[in-house]
Amino acid sequence: MNLGILVSGRGSNLQAIIDAIEKGKLKSQIALVISNKEGVQALERCLKHGIPYKVIKRKAFSSKEEFEEAMVKALKEASVDFVILAGFMLVLSETFLRAFPMKVVNIHPSLIPAFQGLNAQRQALDYGAKITGCSLHFVTDELDNGPVIAQACVPVLPEDTEEILSERILAYEHRILPQVIKWLEEGRVKVEGRRVIVEGAKYGSLPFNPSLEDF
Ligand code: GAR
Repeated sequence: MNLGILVSGRGSNLQAIIDAIEKGKLKSQIALVISNKEGVQALERCLKHGIPYKVIKRKAFSSKEEFEEAMVKALKEASVDFVILAGFMLVLSETFLRAFPMKVVNIHPSLIPAFQGLNAQRQALDYGAKITGCSLHFVTDELDNGPVIAQACVPVLPEDTEEILSERILAYEHRILPQVIKWLEEGRVKVEGRRVIVEGAKYGSLPFNPSLEDF
């Protein structure tokens, strides 16, 4: 499977994919990374690991449509099958999504439908939630609300800051993201309306984290 990965910043989730590929846990290859920002850490990771990348900035185009068409063109030229949004902080419209129908997945740092949009970890703290987590979901035209493929939950502790909570969630993001890519590689993910069924998934091995396998 040829992956296209869209990033905007640090790229620790990109790194989790790179590590899983380098360890032989995934058969996919990263055909192209697109960043909408220059000089971000995600691009340093590409350079270090010899991964092709492009910087495509929104402001280089007069419309969002043209911006998304440029990304689609680059991804199609790289023969990308699946697009992973790994900390990509712009909302994609129908222009992009119709080019990759049900082939775009996003990682979001909350248990959706809770705390959609920006600063999900801050939202969980401010709300006083006792449990939050992360979600892997198909991207549809509803922001942070497409069909859920996998979720992992983490506790919110009384002394948590946004940084500490974000780190705790991130450790699980780095597990469920490669795991879901493996499921996609193996063609085991079926979507029925809002429900996503993963054939043969060994659910329930970890308490409170029924989506997690021992990946
Ligand atoms: C991650 O926590 C990811 O879930 C979040 O941005 C961070 C990117 O970190 N994404 C969103 O909030 C998207 N709505 P990374 O660049 O180190 O992978």
